[in-house]
Amino acid sequence: MRALSYAVIRLVLEETTRQLSRDVDVSELHTPEVNSVARGMTVSCATDGNHGKSTAQGAQLVGAKCATFVHSGLSNERIAAIARFGAQMIRVDGNYHDSVVQASRVAAQEGWITVSDTSWPDYERIPRFVMQGYAALVSEALRQLPEPPTHVFIQAGVGGIAAAVAGHLSVLLGDDRPCFTVVDPSRAACLFESARAGHPVEVDHGQSTVMAMLECYEPPLVAWHFLSRTADAFMAVDDEDAISGMKRLANPKHGDPAVVAGESGGVGLAALLKAASDPTLRGKIGLGPNARVVLINTEGATVPVLYEQLVGATPAEVTAKHIKPVKNRTTDGASSWGLL
Ligand SMILES: Cc1ncc(COP(=O)(O)O)c(C=O)c1O
Repeated sequence: MRALSYAVIRLVLEETTRQLSRDVDVSELHTPEVNSVARGMTVSCATDGNHGKSTAQGAQLVGAKCATFVHSGLSNERIAAIARFGAQMIRVDGNYHDSVVQASRVAAQEGWITVSDTSWPDYERIPRFVMQGYAALVSEALRQLPEPPTHVFIQAGVGGIAAAVAGHLSVLLGDDRPCFTVVDPSRAACLFESARAGHPVEVDHGQSTVMAMLECYEPPLVAWHFLSRTADAFMAVDDEDAISGMKRLANPKHGDPAVVAGESGGVGLAALLKAASDPTLRGKIGLGPNARVVLINTEGATVPVLYEQLVGATPAEVTAKHIKPVKNRTTDGASSWGLL
């Protein structure tokens, strides 16, 4: 989720470049000139949790102000995790959609900059910055791997991380790029259904999913544009699959290190396990014994109480079982990189 911080930094550097009428790059991030421009800027967003945290963190890093709109369904724990970075928290009655509407209304009134990973017509530049931020994790992963992966399974909400990773891998590896599978929650499978339809579709807003950070009902155009060209397969996993993935990461086999992955974090492994246990799926994506699979764990135990309920152990108990926080091999030959 650091990609949102990256986007905030890009916005501040861009504004400083405009105000000083000369190129300003990241090496000047902490100079008085950049700080003075940043202090006059307010970034804002509506969030379900992680997005707001990263935006607030980026704003704090550069000294900009941050206003975060949170809906009534957001837990106090998630709100506190954002407020910790000095963001002004604005509570909105209603659901996530209500907070998005309120955030864009107030931002327009106040002259705040909306930082969103979702694009809409005339709002594509900032989501593209966010995607560039995600692309950094591909370079980090490739640097640590002895050989490039043959397969990648990546969870999707609005599809920003997936699009950035797929796009960047294609650019870096060309014809040797891995088979790329995008994974949606079954209860919010907008990319999966869009792939089936051949164009972006909105899916029904049914029961909410435990994969809260992936709950998206219509893919934004920028992500769809990339994924419809770069993804090889789309899958949907059930809530039970996601929980099994979390448990498996917490209780690995054959001496593999344990990984604390939140409800939306371990979804890549959930999809890999599902595909690996189904000969038809395996065949379709060429998942054989020599596969080198990359998974990306996008969150830790963001809500520790829920984590304990689902996994049956506290994050600390799981962490105590392992040592390596980065690049953990699992029994399936898969790897995961902790982002948070
Ligand atoms: C933990 C976590 N994983 C995955 C995602 C999915 O990212 P995207 O919405 O870009 O598909 C999110 C989005 O907020 C997230 O918070």
